[in-house]
Amino acid sequence: MKILGIETSCDETAAAVVEDGVKVLSNTVFSQIPLHHATGGVVPEVAAREHVVKIMPVVSQTLNEAGMTLDDIDAIAVTQGPGLLSSLVIGMSTASTMAILKDKPLIPVNHIAGHIYANWLDEDPKDPIQFPLIVLTVSGGHNELVLMKSHHSFRLLGETLDDAAGEAFDKVARLLGLGYPGGPHISRKAETGNPKRYPLPRVYLQKDSFNFSFSGLKTAVLNLVKEEHSREGALSDEFIADCSASFQENVVQILSDKLLAAAEKYRVKEVHLAGGVSANRRLRKVTEEKISNKYYFDHKGKNLHLALPPVLRYAKDISLCTDNAAMIAAAAYFQYKTLPNKRMPQGNSLADPNLRMYHNPR
Ligand code: KG4
Ligand code: ZN
Repeated sequence: MKILGIETSCDETAAAVVEDGVKVLSNTVFSQIPLHHATGGVVPEVAAREHVVKIMPVVSQTLNEAGMTLDDIDAIAVTQGPGLLSSLVIGMSTASTMAILKDKPLIPVNHIAGHIYANWLDEDPKDPIQFPLIVLTVSGGHNELVLMKSHHSFRLLGETLDDAAGEAFDKVARLLGLGYPGGPHISRKAETGNPKRYPLPRVYLQKDSFNFSFSGLKTAVLNLVKEEHSREGALSDEFIADCSASFQENVVQILSDKLLAAAEKYRVKEVHLAGGVSANRRLRKVTEEKISNKYYFDHKGKNLHLALPPVLRYAKDISLCTDNAAMIAAAAYFQYKTLPNKRMPQGNSLADPNLRMYHNPR
């Protein structure tokens, strides 16, 4: 089954063709990042206008690269939410119009489910993904721990109470005078920095909580930057590197500890990293090390034994971690197979900026 996926939830205009949920036939992403440099973040109206200009060229390019026309496509999948309303609407109305014109099923996809299914695009048939599993979805707009016992059965174990991890990376990068998006800039600076230089608050919330909170950490960095400014004037390269490394280490330790604590509690076979922050090499390495050395830290910093070390997966191709449409087409395939009635009437383009992950208790 060949699915054309469309993704316009934030600042990437993306389309892709994926076969049977795992094989990427083409994957096109037009990034608006240079457009948002000046503002240090996405201005929704600017993003939406650019989607209008780019959506049809991106769809045509991806069909050409797959060697197909719309007639060869079996269904059209599109991100319904969460995301920026004005951006979502462009993708939804484009997909909906094509579905009416060509009389194809229209499959609305939750953006976070899309990130989760990016890991299926990498799946090796000799090493299939095994349920139950827990996914840490970490992006600019979302930060969740999700338990999956089968396809499209999502149980939310925890989420951020304030900023998402990616949002914290972006805000701290702005404080340090680095570019947008902040994650790649911070991780590059952190490579030469000392992660122990600045002890920052490591917020685990109460015992056994699978929720996250990064706003206190962001404020602590803000205070450090203010102190440095009043002492030294400009920020030195050394300060930026050490501050980046200390901040990154803090986030990575919290994310990996919560993921492994949840894995231990729910006795899962696999843990997955998904979303833009899963591109972070330190996050991948620290999680890998903790699993192979069978430990994680609790909310008081106590070293605990990991009795059931799970298999770790993440998309090796970094372009599948950040927003793309191949992940939307992959999620749509498994959604179509598992929940055949979860389609959208053609002509409906109701984008939902606050769309929640549906809980399917199977
Ligand atoms: O999934 P994504 O492309 O968009 C959302 O759905 O939000 O994620 C973008 C986020 C940004 O906040 C960006 O700073 C972060 O992912 N990110 C990273 C890295 N690459 C992207 N964060 C940490 N380390 C990275 N290497
Ligand atoms: Zn995303």
